[in-house]
Amino acid sequence: MTEGVDRRRFLITAGMGAGACLALGGSAIRLAASQVEGGMASLKDRAAKKGLLYGSAVLQRELTQDPAFAAVFPQQCDIMVPELELKWDHLRPTPTTWDFAGADWLSNYAQQNQMKFRGHTLVWQDALPSWFAGYINPQNAKELLLGHISKVMGRYAGKVHSWDVVNEAIWPPDKRPDGLRDTPWLRNLGAGYIELAFRAAQQADPHALLTWNENWLEEETALGDAKRAFFVQHLKDLLSRGVPIQAIGLQSHLIGDHNNIAGPHFRQFLGQIQDMGLKILVTEMDVREGNLPNDINTRDQSIANIYYEYLSAVLANPAVIAVLTWGISDKYTWTAQSNPRADKAPVRPLPYDQNMTPKPAWGAIARAFDNAPSR
Ligand code: G3I
Repeated sequence: MTEGVDRRRFLITAGMGAGACLALGGSAIRLAASQVEGGMASLKDRAAKKGLLYGSAVLQRELTQDPAFAAVFPQQCDIMVPELELKWDHLRPTPTTWDFAGADWLSNYAQQNQMKFRGHTLVWQDALPSWFAGYINPQNAKELLLGHISKVMGRYAGKVHSWDVVNEAIWPPDKRPDGLRDTPWLRNLGAGYIELAFRAAQQADPHALLTWNENWLEEETALGDAKRAFFVQHLKDLLSRGVPIQAIGLQSHLIGDHNNIAGPHFRQFLGQIQDMGLKILVTEMDVREGNLPNDINTRDQSIANIYYEYLSAVLANPAVIAVLTWGISDKYTWTAQSNPRADKAPVRPLPYDQNMTPKPAWGAIARAFDNAPSR
């Protein structure tokens, strides 16, 4: 069987349909909707059929300056999260002044387009303004943290589906016995900053699902094992003391040439989270290329396979309520800067290519939703 036939078969079984025009060895095929189960039904509709949400991170400028992108985004997504606009460095030009323009615009966009809106993120060691490091100290840290949470969450209270209250707080390589990352919050407030933040978050917006978002939970590696173990330990402790944590976020920045994702330890971890009564969201999925080959067909197929394999494993757990990718188009992806290919070929981590044509990754996500159990 030729590669082209293989690929066509994949696309058909993956749910890629009419209007999906794909380059194959220099030519292109257009699949008829009748050939495809589910046709080009959107990702959000396929997810909704199973009681799930599908959506993406987005920037205001992508929606205001790119009509092709702006047409596809609301067709496919029913939940969105600002990629940058709700971070400290965007909201707080100085310690005493605020700039909510971008976040307000995106929150209004979500409302006008009947999309759910996620908040990201209140407590993180990254994306802090340049004044922050010289300003925070043990005397003002609590007020700084609580003031931020109350002001930002209060502004959007009642309009937010879920908030990433704490982001990336666990980092075993920092070698602390509690596995917590060495951050300005930890240094100035001690490990209790996590509890403080969640309690303040509940007061500021009792309607938002309060989420602890983490990276590197997915890999079947020593780091993955350590992160999962510390995470479970902290969650059990905090929940036993009534700290209002309601969900966890699996960032899911996967790597295309790693074949050890979604293994038994990870699945067991999802079960532990479910047993604690927490919801699970896939919050930032994309597939970085690692050392995948340059050939686009091979590359797209590998990336699609990872999407399908990972999402199938995750969606088997009934605690999972949403899947968000970290962008929808290869035109706008952080990985172009953070993880460029050695051969300089443009990266292809997301469901749509640079021209807003759906790729095999789109079909893989569609098929994962189609095959997921209903919630
Ligand atoms: O906007 C400026 C631009 O004016 C300037 O010329 C350029 C020079 O480097 O920088 C631009 O800002 C960058 C911004 O992305 C927009 O591209 C920042 O330097 C850069 O730090 C910022 O990176 C973002 C990063 O979070 C930090 O906020 C990434 O886009 C964003 O994808 C990334 O998202 C994170 C999640 O929040 C948490 N999980 C991991 C994920 C990926 O790192």
